[in-house]
Amino acid sequence: MKNNQVEEFKQATIAKIDQCLDEYLAGLESYPVLKEAMRYSVDAGGKRLRPFLILAICQTFKGTYSDLDLQAASSLELIHTYSLIHDDLPEMDNDDLRRGKPTNHKVYGQAMAVLAGDGLLTTAFEWLSRLELDPAIQVKLIHALSKAAGPEGMVNGQVGDIQGEQHQLTLAQLQRVHRGKTGALIQYACYAGGLLSNVSAEYQDALKQFGIQFGLAFQIYDDILDVVGTEAELGKKVHKDQAENKNTYPGLLGLEGAQKELRHSVQLMRESLAVLHQDGIDISLLADFLNYFKIKDKA
Ligand code: IPE
Ligand code: IPE
Ligand code: MG
Ligand code: MG
Ligand code: MG
Repeated sequence: MKNNQVEEFKQATIAKIDQCLDEYLAGLESYPVLKEAMRYSVDAGGKRLRPFLILAICQTFKGTYSDLDLQAASSLELIHTYSLIHDDLPEMDNDDLRRGKPTNHKVYGQAMAVLAGDGLLTTAFEWLSRLELDPAIQVKLIHALSKAAGPEGMVNGQVGDIQGEQHQLTLAQLQRVHRGKTGALIQYACYAGGLLSNVSAEYQDALKQFGIQFGLAFQIYDDILDVVGTEAELGKKVHKDQAENKNTYPGLLGLEGAQKELRHSVQLMRESLAVLHQDGIDISLLADFLNYFKIKDKA
């Protein structure tokens, strides 16, 4: 097993994702200002985690990923970026720094930021639906993505997050918020990777469990980074959650308690991967993704 496999994978893949996004957005026939506002946030960087996950799953099961996989994966980054543009709006989290740059509304104004988000959301589906995929797989992808992004998924989680500013949520309620606002798109990424790789129902189930825990862990870690991270590392303001009265894992359980929950989710992810490993599948690349969650040894 190679060290830093995930870093090598990312380095070999990021330029392809970026080029794919760039070519697609460049081809849109829109007012220049709308196109510019959409491209501003997409090009601002970001970790590209969600497309990476889709493509790493393809790589795991197929030994490679195709140009169609790349495009399907990149369309998810448009929806994620839209969610960030809207998340940063003054009526939502009121942030002025994202991906190391001024937030979309700071540059283009609130109306254009709303519309740039709307544009990214809708064009992601346009893109996904025009790919020459197996039609049965394509419909499943579109259905799963609309469900994950919409009022039973990410949008629902954002509502829980905003409403939660008014009161203290229980752990179960907070988990529901996190599974929606952040978990849903990450869970979709794992499902999409499995679907594009034609995996069995059993493997799809293991990927589902992996995705549920990855999504939850990702937001727990985001909450932790808001407390212990720096603006330079994260490209966004820190210590914002408490200032905005957000319900977070460290807020509810303390830093140590949040780390413990994170460790538990990571353990469950390892167990899901073990199901695949038992059948001789090389899970080392996916297992390497878990190094993102740098967890202190002692809770
Ligand atoms: C930030 O997501 C918002 C959350 C859902 C936690 P990322 O941490 O993936 O942000 P980028 O894409 O790297 O900017
Ligand atoms: C963001 O959660 C979730 C979505 C954008 C859907 P946060 O509000 O915690 O993300 P950051 O910290 O602003 O990136
Ligand atoms: Mg938010
Ligand atoms: Mg936010
Ligand atoms: Mg956050």
